[in-house]
Amino acid sequence: MSKRLGILISGRGSNFLAIADAVAQHRLDAEIAVVISNHPDAPGIAVGRERGFQAITLPSKGLDREAYDCQMIEELRKSNVDLVCLAGYMRILSGHFIREFHQRILNIHPSLLPAFPGLDAQHQALDHGAKFSGCTVHFVEEGLDSGPIISQAVVPVLEDDTAESLAARILKEEHRIYPEAIALVLSGQYRIEGRRVIPFRKIFA
Ligand code: GRF
Repeated sequence: MSKRLGILISGRGSNFLAIADAVAQHRLDAEIAVVISNHPDAPGIAVGRERGFQAITLPSKGLDREAYDCQMIEELRKSNVDLVCLAGYMRILSGHFIREFHQRILNIHPSLLPAFPGLDAQHQALDHGAKFSGCTVHFVEEGLDSGPIISQAVVPVLEDDTAESLAARILKEEHRIYPEAIALVLSGQYRIEGRRVIPFRKIFA
């Protein structure tokens, strides 16, 4: 039976759709059990519904972090989720949530971590004068954009790049590596040694 994904978003949801495409095209053996947004008007929710997914909003505004995360855990449990994928989810998770899904939460970040964690990573890379940036899929631990790295892709920073043009090229790579990283984690064909995620065989191109 396919493993069940819970995808958390806050906005556009293009990574969610890239994962959905990978599932539809049998590049990823999984089922999207539920997609949840903490913002009621996230465009990704409308598109998700159009495509027939169970896409729900769970507004977080004004709620205490742990109380909100308890609601979220309940929703994910209802949908019997095996793995939680953060895809542009703009809210820091409580320790409670992270312990609840120990090593079963992934995130995608638009930089080569540990460089440029946090908001506006593409802007940070440009401002810093980095010649290369990219994206990272990692396990989520307490601590912003920390946790063992599963996969990364490198994207050159061009002289005439703006934060937007760089973000667009990075996004293409995000859409490629996130489904691959999810497939690896669902396969269980890896071990974690300290901070290192070591696949049992070569999976990534
Ligand atoms: C992506 O750049 C992702 O790396 C970051 O937030 C953005 C989300 O984009 N965490 P989308 O909602 O998946 O289109």
